[in-house]
Amino acid sequence: MTSLSPMTQPFAVVDAARERPVCPADVVWDEGVPDAGPGGPTVFDAALAGRSHRLVRADGVVLPLAVQRWQDDADDDDGWLLERCHGATLDLGCGPGRLVVALADRGVPALGVDVSVRAIERCLERGAAVLHQDAFDRLPGEGRWEHVVLADGNIGIGGDPVALLRRCRDLLARDGTVLVELEPDVGLWQGAAHLVSDDGQVDGLAGTWFPWAVLGADAVDEVAHAAGLRVTERSSPEDIVATGRSFCALRACEHFPGL
Ligand SMILES: C[S@@+](CC[C@H](N)C(=O)[O-])C[C@H]1O[C@@H](n2cnc3c(N)ncnc32)[C@H](O)[C@@H]1O
Repeated sequence: MTSLSPMTQPFAVVDAARERPVCPADVVWDEGVPDAGPGGPTVFDAALAGRSHRLVRADGVVLPLAVQRWQDDADDDDGWLLERCHGATLDLGCGPGRLVVALADRGVPALGVDVSVRAIERCLERGAAVLHQDAFDRLPGEGRWEHVVLADGNIGIGGDPVALLRRCRDLLARDGTVLVELEPDVGLWQGAAHLVSDDGQVDGLAGTWFPWAVLGADAVDEVAHAAGLRVTERSSPEDIVATGRSFCALRACEHFPGL
């Protein structure tokens, strides 16, 4: 794998006064999102149930989780992403399915994928097409999706953005795009994380360390390149200021081993 630049700037620390969390030396966190057994709850269920609101990284940085946004309907701030989905779209880590529903409402065929039981239940209540599977499991239509969406921090899934983007590239049709939400210019961070409530409480499974990553707009070219993709479009600085959100579109490089 290409060696990537380390994170260059500290990410906004939500609560700098909080004691730095300690990731135990013997922590086993390279096995994906912890769950309570096949079909059981996962760490994100506590967030979706409103019991965890923050993601605590092993380096002490605490990030807010946009739990309410996941539950709400899609809105104008999702416009950049939604407007670029013109055909069959796969939303990896779709959560409660707001983007899947918004795309279906626009007449765009869309399928969500998520490991969280609670997310699946909410998707089904909303009428969103969804599969209760891991993004790295065998999925329908591999190699035929026109768009794969990684929204709201989901580039962190699995803790290895290059591996996740390679996975997305394999899911794409030849001219398809991966649509990724990025953080502001924070480089690339990869490591262990766990979830806590607003008052720092750990809720059972949610407190288990799991692999995660954060990717900034300034590091996406390098990460995309290592995955055989290239950035073809980015949200404008005006859009980023207006919505507080940053997106980009990636396409497969024509000459890349394995394509
Ligand atoms: C940030 S939340 C989802 C937000 C949603 N994309 C949105 O914009 O409303 C992350 C989601 O990814 C799901 N997830 C985490 N790891 C996953 C994996 N390996 N495969 C599929 N889904 C995963 C979690 O269950 C959770 O619902």
